[in-house]
Amino acid sequence: MSSSKHRKAAGRPIRVRLDDGTPLVMRPLHPGDVLRLRRGFEQLSERSRQRRFLTAKPTLSPAELAYLTAGDGEHRRTLGVAVADRRGRARTPIAVARCERETSDPTIGEVAVTVIDSWQGRGIGRLVLRALAGISWNAGIRRWRALIAGENAGAFRVLASVAEEESRQHAGAGTVEVIYRLAPPPPLEDVPADA
Ligand SMILES: CC(C)(COP(=O)(O)OP(=O)(O)OC[C@H]1O[C@@H](n2cnc3c(N)ncnc32)[C@H](O)[C@@H]1OP(=O)(O)O)[C@@H](O)C(=O)NCCC(=O)NCCS
Repeated sequence: MSSSKHRKAAGRPIRVRLDDGTPLVMRPLHPGDVLRLRRGFEQLSERSRQRRFLTAKPTLSPAELAYLTAGDGEHRRTLGVAVADRRGRARTPIAVARCERETSDPTIGEVAVTVIDSWQGRGIGRLVLRALAGISWNAGIRRWRALIAGENAGAFRVLASVAEEESRQHAGAGTVEVIYRLAPPPPLEDVPADA
């Protein structure tokens, strides 16, 4: 993705297509997304919730929903992904990714990503992380920190497909802390939804 497209992704919807042609739209989350986020969360399996939050998570509280949909643009960057209709408008929310800048080192951001179970394994995790990598890079973030359950092969794989692993260490309770080095990512096509 070019710098202008990263700027676009940071502020306005960006349309992309999966390899199978499914049109998607990505944009930062905002407080009006609480119901969409809750709908997406309800479609996550217990295992996906556990992997994302590293603890049992049957529900998200109103405070958690508010926190997860608030992007302040400076310290917190978010992207929500939805399947688009024929006019390119967001319809079904299917994934979210976020990068939270660390206060102790503003060049590091903590990253997390979630794709609802029925859409996993189709390239969406990689797609949204590629976009988030560009947004992070343009915001001066050079490394991502990720806390990953040690058995979560998919998370290690999808992050490694976007950024270079620099280090990893055990963080207790079966969790691994991984530092990824970011680089300007390869181009991401912005394809019109009706192409
Ligand atoms: C981890 C997760 C984000 C991956 O998203 P996804 O859309 O399914 O991943 P993609 O289809 O983009 O796959 C990207 C790569 O990861 C691999 N991959 C995905 N899931 C995998 C799994 N469970 N086991 C092994 N490899 C996996 C794919 O084969 C692909 O590899 P490739 O680059 O060699 O082709 C998704 O499974 C998820 O949301 N899990 C629950 C929440 C979670 O674990 N979040 C991570 C917290 S940091």
